[in-house]
Amino acid sequence: MAGVRLEGVWKVFGKVVAVRDVSLVVEDGEFASILGPSGSGKTTLLYLIAGIYKPTQGRIYFGERDVTDLPPNQRNVGLVFQNYALYPHMTVFENIAFPLRLRRVPGDVVREKVLEAAKLLGIEGLLDRLPGQLSGGQQQRVALARALVKEPEVLLLDEPLSNLDALLRIRIRSELKRLQSELGITAIYVTHDQSEALAMADKVAVMSEGVLQQVGTPREVYEKPRNVFVASFIGSPPANLITVKLSRDRRCIELPGGETHCPPPNIASKLAQLPTDHVILGFRPENSVLSEEPLGDHIPVKAEVYTVELLGRENVVTLTVDGHHIKTVVPPMVNPSPGDEMYVNIEPSKALYFDPETEINLEYIEAAAPAEALRREAQPRREEAEGEP
Ligand SMILES: Nc1ncnc2c1ncn2[C@@H]1O[C@H](COP(=O)(O)OP(=O)(O)O)[C@@H](O)[C@H]1O
Ligand SMILES: [Mg+2]
Repeated sequence: MAGVRLEGVWKVFGKVVAVRDVSLVVEDGEFASILGPSGSGKTTLLYLIAGIYKPTQGRIYFGERDVTDLPPNQRNVGLVFQNYALYPHMTVFENIAFPLRLRRVPGDVVREKVLEAAKLLGIEGLLDRLPGQLSGGQQQRVALARALVKEPEVLLLDEPLSNLDALLRIRIRSELKRLQSELGITAIYVTHDQSEALAMADKVAVMSEGVLQQVGTPREVYEKPRNVFVASFIGSPPANLITVKLSRDRRCIELPGGETHCPPPNIASKLAQLPTDHVILGFRPENSVLSEEPLGDHIPVKAEVYTVELLGRENVVTLTVDGHHIKTVVPPMVNPSPGDEMYVNIEPSKALYFDPETEINLEYIEAAAPAEALRREAQPRREEAEGEP
């Protein structure tokens, strides 16, 4: 078994840059998830790791071994795809045995290993059937057993659960996570489903347009999204984003509804350095509370109720502010009516601030050198010199 390391990996197809300068470390035994929307380069990245594609540039290592120029069969990876790709005319037994037959493993050893893999996945009873006689969940287990039977160094999975119905998906995902940690196998799991990535992975690598946006634990990408893309991709519902004006001294924000909020000094000093007179304020629906009057110790945003969705355990309230929709999560007994004017009060410690030009979370921007900050303070901004009309 081995960890996987990518160094400056690119994959270009003609004019399409599918993977752009990706560097990523997956530790030995770690469960990593590559998460991104359709077309973001996830499958291409997985194929590069598998050896199906060769990078246009960059190196790939399994442990200390440089595998960049090795074909798939010399990398010993287990691959599982969305569509299972089972051989329809072979029994389940022969499907699982296939990678071992290719290696000319003796028959009695094949039998032993197939039984072991089948047992691990709870499909010992299905070995004589054909794939067509199995449910989707059973087929996916066969595909997993086939990937595991050759004891791969790295298990690569490309949206393996997306053809299953919702309940089965949730059940198999916890089984898969358990299996991976019991076997201690390095796994890289591609998905467009953020809840799957958060639920299963030790490490989440978020991709958009071929570029790695952030790599972190599920908690990090959820609580401290590096940029607007990550904030708006992760979470259900994802983070809300509204543009708010900076106050004249550029250390506070002016909220829809007229309230002002002054964030702590570490944020305020970065607001003061923004090249714009506004900032993107982000917050998760679950980090805000709804009230009729603004809550003083929160960040109160005035908004109009648009719809209420009853989810049983909670209600999701959608509100309109400056023509945009924001969402908040409230207890089931809170049930405002469309048209009500209310305040969405953001928990200040959970508020996110993004540079409107780079869309980067201000927490990830280094504070400017004191000299620079002083120079800025000494030079009054043009808006201030001219005053408001
Ligand atoms: N073999 C290929 N030839 C040309 N373009 C490709 C090829 N494979 C993928 N692409 C392009 O690369 C981008 C990333 O694709 P892919 O890795 O399949 O994304 P994802 O798996 O995240 O949906 C897309 O724009 C896709 O059209
Ligand atoms: Mg794909």
